[in-house]
Amino acid sequence: MNVLSIVSGTSTDGLSWSCVDVDETSGSIGFEVLQKGNRGFSRELKSLLLRITNQGNASLADIDRAHWLLGRTLLSVPPLLRHSVDMAVFSGHTLHHVEQAGRSGLGTFQIGAVEPLALKLGKPVVTDMRYTDVAAGGMGAPLVPAADSIMFPEGAVVLNIGGISNITLIDREVTGFDCGPGNMLIDGAMKILYGRSMDRNGTVAKSGTVNQHLLSFLMRDEFVNSRPPKSTGRERYSVAYLNSILTKARKYGMTRRDIIATLSAFTSDSILSNIVRFAGGRETLIVAGGGAYNSYILERLRSGFRGSVMTSSAYGVDPDTREAVAFAILCYLSVNLKPANSRATGAKTLLPLGRITLYGFSRKPAVCL
Ligand SMILES: Nc1ncnc2c1ncn2[C@@H]1O[C@H](COP(=O)(O)OP(=O)(O)O)[C@@H](O)[C@H]1O
Ligand SMILES: [Mg+2]
Repeated sequence: MNVLSIVSGTSTDGLSWSCVDVDETSGSIGFEVLQKGNRGFSRELKSLLLRITNQGNASLADIDRAHWLLGRTLLSVPPLLRHSVDMAVFSGHTLHHVEQAGRSGLGTFQIGAVEPLALKLGKPVVTDMRYTDVAAGGMGAPLVPAADSIMFPEGAVVLNIGGISNITLIDREVTGFDCGPGNMLIDGAMKILYGRSMDRNGTVAKSGTVNQHLLSFLMRDEFVNSRPPKSTGRERYSVAYLNSILTKARKYGMTRRDIIATLSAFTSDSILSNIVRFAGGRETLIVAGGGAYNSYILERLRSGFRGSVMTSSAYGVDPDTREAVAFAILCYLSVNLKPANSRATGAKTLLPLGRITLYGFSRKPAVCL
């Protein structure tokens, strides 16, 4: 089954998509990435999404507009496809996520209209997977662990460095949790201090020096030190939080590049600290997500991790594709009515996830568009 999988992460850097052939032979699921790509957001959509998620005081009209603009952006993917697809899945864009969301039965909210995509493809589109997990007592995140156990070997720690960092532990029962900020603070500081969207390849961080006082302060972070299961988002590592760090950094007389180096060290060290405390004894660390391209972060992980560190490319999945491939697998599991969540979210029940647009099931469109 060919699945077009589109994801939009908390980095708000745009859509990552993959066309994945997912199949099952004698009970074991295999996959092949047929095509992949990234699609940036328009300036309007990016600033709208950041304004809604950073400030939390958006109007209903803002959310409505972002929902449909995002839906329109999804339409830019089908013309790029070189393969026919049987189905599509969209992760939704998280606007709001309460830590421990599912525990109180509320608190995760995604947007992005998929109906125009279903019409354009003429195929069903699966979305809103997180809501099913919340209904089952989970936090709605992280969802990728169930797919990681199909993509990567048993015994490994799989790390995703997106806006937030999270890890999957592939044991007989797969688990996983968010560690803390991934690229979110680095991206935010790069925008404020350099007017750039990211520290490409970690070049700025490599030119700076880590301020140990600020790093120790950051490492006392309540979320980083809390026990799993745990998940977080922009609500915690917000612009207000970043500004308070920048004020502190200025008091220490730090340069711009020292600030980027220290925030990048915080990303790496908070990941390592979570691995040591909650995932000890493992020998293989597989890194994916956009942060895998930041060689400052990767080198710091290499020097701090006891075993070998590699990117997901070693397993045939490029770091910027892993999340989309994972959602394609979760989609496959769900439409085949198999469980697609895992204990990583804290869910009490493991079950198929999401809802499906009905349009693509009709044989012929009633009206030719
Ligand atoms: N070449 C690169 N060098 C450094 N960082 C990168 C590079 N490419 C991507 N990134 C980082 O990865 C982020 C996007 O990662 P992604 O996995 O898409 O996260 P999310 O799932 O949160 O959207 C960018 O915002 C940027 O910080
Ligand atoms: Mg992204």
